[in-house]
Amino acid sequence: MTRLIIKNIKGLAGAYEQSPKMLRGEELNELPVLSDAFVVVENGVIRDFGKMSDFLAGADAEGADVIDAAGCFVLPSWCDSHTHLVFADTRELEFEDRIKGLSYEEIANRGGGILNSAARMAEIDEEELYKRALVRLNQAARMGTGAMEIKSGYGLSVETELKMLRVIKRLRQTSDVAIKATLLGAHAIPQSHKNDRKGYVDMVLEEMIPAAAEQGLADYVDVFCEKGYFNVEETLAIVAKGAEYGMKAKIHVNQFNAFGAIPRLVEAGALSVDHLEVLGAGDAEALGGSDTIATALPLCSLFLSLPYTPATTLMKAGAVVALATDYNPGTAPSTNMNLVVSLACIKMKMTPEAAINAATINGAAAMEVSDTHGSIARGKVANLLVTEPCEHLSYLPYSFGRPAIETVILAGKVLGM
Ligand code: NIG
Ligand code: FE
Repeated sequence: MTRLIIKNIKGLAGAYEQSPKMLRGEELNELPVLSDAFVVVENGVIRDFGKMSDFLAGADAEGADVIDAAGCFVLPSWCDSHTHLVFADTRELEFEDRIKGLSYEEIANRGGGILNSAARMAEIDEEELYKRALVRLNQAARMGTGAMEIKSGYGLSVETELKMLRVIKRLRQTSDVAIKATLLGAHAIPQSHKNDRKGYVDMVLEEMIPAAAEQGLADYVDVFCEKGYFNVEETLAIVAKGAEYGMKAKIHVNQFNAFGAIPRLVEAGALSVDHLEVLGAGDAEALGGSDTIATALPLCSLFLSLPYTPATTLMKAGAVVALATDYNPGTAPSTNMNLVVSLACIKMKMTPEAAINAATINGAAAMEVSDTHGSIARGKVANLLVTEPCEHLSYLPYSFGRPAIETVILAGKVLGM
């Protein structure tokens, strides 16, 4: 048996006798912090936690690894519920084009953007694709991500979407990061179907979704529901088809335009709606009255100079708000959840408590792993972060641009930095 003890913790954040599954509205502002605490981990699982005054003398003497966290906070690892981690190549030349004044849309219309990544994805060997993705996954883990959703969406053909999903499956089998896979076949209309969008949507409905489901490769379906990409009717058809195969929906929506999709996605039972840089009338209310999680992606807002998702408006309406990176080569080339949490505080005026909750337990809920991840409770997976010594937990988002984390524990193991 492996045993790890973290003792003398200045503040243990997000620890519960009975963990909530998700937090909505004002609840997000409440983050329990137990002062002068300990955590005991056995075989990768949180066995116990409590006040140092209840720590049994000598419990750390029997061959356990011990971390003395004096002056430090301990919190649950980040749960990044929206990424496009599997891609062939980076796209820094498009970054240069945007500096020169082209918009994301203009670059996409010239065959850049998603279609650029799709062209490279069609060529790359599956083994090489896996290797590149694993390097990025390990970087994310070292910055404190303990659970991650990963999408396909650069294949845009049945075979290449399945190739991406197989790579995600392999990452799941080899990494201690908990991974969920999402089929994003409807990410863009590929060159092959540029004059036949109906043909492409039919292919997603009749071939991709059944194949991904039958091969057990996808947990969720996603669609880029946006002007110039897929409309609400096409999106709802894909959501319905996914549901037939037991795959819930996590949908890219309201990134550039608001056109009434959110209430309909809520009604269709979407697990999450992601982006929401622009909200329309009734969107916040629809989310406030539902379990559909509103996932904000502030790195994309920063990188593309888009508005930030009005998270406090969503919270006032009672919504379940989550935060994720949107890690991808075009609009958010960073896996740094620490920066996500900082931006949520700086630009979206979320309190540090709300931002941390949105990036942990609500992120876990947006991947349906909140029974095992996203908070500290007995029996949960020991994915934990130990901060640098600091006075207040807000030091973490305040130290923006750099993970102010001293130790990352993934499935009970201390990660080498
Ligand atoms: O979430 N908006 C759609 N998809 C990605 C961008 C993909 C890309 O540019 O490669 C996003 O921003
Ligand atoms: Fe995305």
